[in-house]
Amino acid sequence: MARKPSKPHPGARDKATAQALVRWFKANAREMPWRPRPLGIKRDPYVVLVSEIMLQQTQVSRVAPAFERFIARFPTIESLANAPEPDILALWSGLGYYRRAKMLHAAAQAVVSDHAGTMPSTSHALKGLPGVGAYTAAAVASLAFHEPTAMVDGNVTRVLLRFDARRAGASDPKAIAWARSRADALIRHAGPTPAPTLAGEALMELGATVCTPRSPRCDVCPLRTWCVARATGLTDTIPTPKRTKQTPTVRAVSIVLEDHAGRVAIETRPAKGMWASMVQAPTIEWADDSRDATDVAREALALGPSAKLRERERFTHQTTHRRFEFTVLTVRVTDRMKRSIERQRPGLSWATREAIAGMGVSSVQARVLLNGH
Ligand code: ADE
Repeated sequence: MARKPSKPHPGARDKATAQALVRWFKANAREMPWRPRPLGIKRDPYVVLVSEIMLQQTQVSRVAPAFERFIARFPTIESLANAPEPDILALWSGLGYYRRAKMLHAAAQAVVSDHAGTMPSTSHALKGLPGVGAYTAAAVASLAFHEPTAMVDGNVTRVLLRFDARRAGASDPKAIAWARSRADALIRHAGPTPAPTLAGEALMELGATVCTPRSPRCDVCPLRTWCVARATGLTDTIPTPKRTKQTPTVRAVSIVLEDHAGRVAIETRPAKGMWASMVQAPTIEWADDSRDATDVAREALALGPSAKLRERERFTHQTTHRRFEFTVLTVRVTDRMKRSIERQRPGLSWATREAIAGMGVSSVQARVLLNGH
């Protein structure tokens, strides 16, 4: 009697998958300035911390030049801990989500003050640092110390949901929690150190380059033999789409006030909230649709009829929680107007565009203050 083909043991599927991940990663890992060769050597934990925090909400192509500038200026955790915050924000320019830079600064200071300048070496201890969550802790523990812990973000969650054909959203906290334990179990089948580390980073790389949200390249995927979504035709329906909620619209007007010497007015945003402590052109936000940006600007700066406000552009800027509709106005100011404006906005100062370019400026305000110059 012919024997029925036996179902592979689940451990066997994981073992074959984890080993395939390592082979694939060795052949396909992208060159990145924070990824030393040969792959699998222990990395500098500080460099991992910086690069992985930068990569959390920003694309690789934007991170690469910023990372190199940042490490050149702050080569060690002490140099970062001792740096003034405005210098750090200035080097974070263009990466967005500046809270990350402040948390990174706080983490560096905590390492220096509470750990004698040496980064903790376990994911558990790393989670005790300010701003270091499960993802960053796993990245540092795994890439720098070879702890067999997988770094799991939305990309890895998507890979694993498809791999096991589970219907869930990739940013659903329950799915992410499931993916963390699933990924840890999977990478531990890869073999002796540093194979689990390589398998873990391979999952990240696979999610970024092959198992993409749309049009995944299953034909070149090292997991194709064992992927249940592929076998059952569910790749396009997993992960399930997230319900898109409408984000409220905020209107904003930024006024580029320029004096006869070519200096422009800047002010510092409040220490809390969106773009905290960053430099901007005087900017007023309001929610009432019916008001005109020019009227709002005139009123806020008490500009008389002799001030000629010109509209330079309008653009929208979407953040996680709000949609901003910006209007940019420009105006040439006389010395008399300057004095009156300064009385309205006490924190205001004047700087050349060259000086502003070296400060912490968000990409929105770089567009407002520096565009075309
Ligand atoms: N995205 C963020 N971190 C990554 C890493 N270490 N490897 C590949 N892609 C990544």
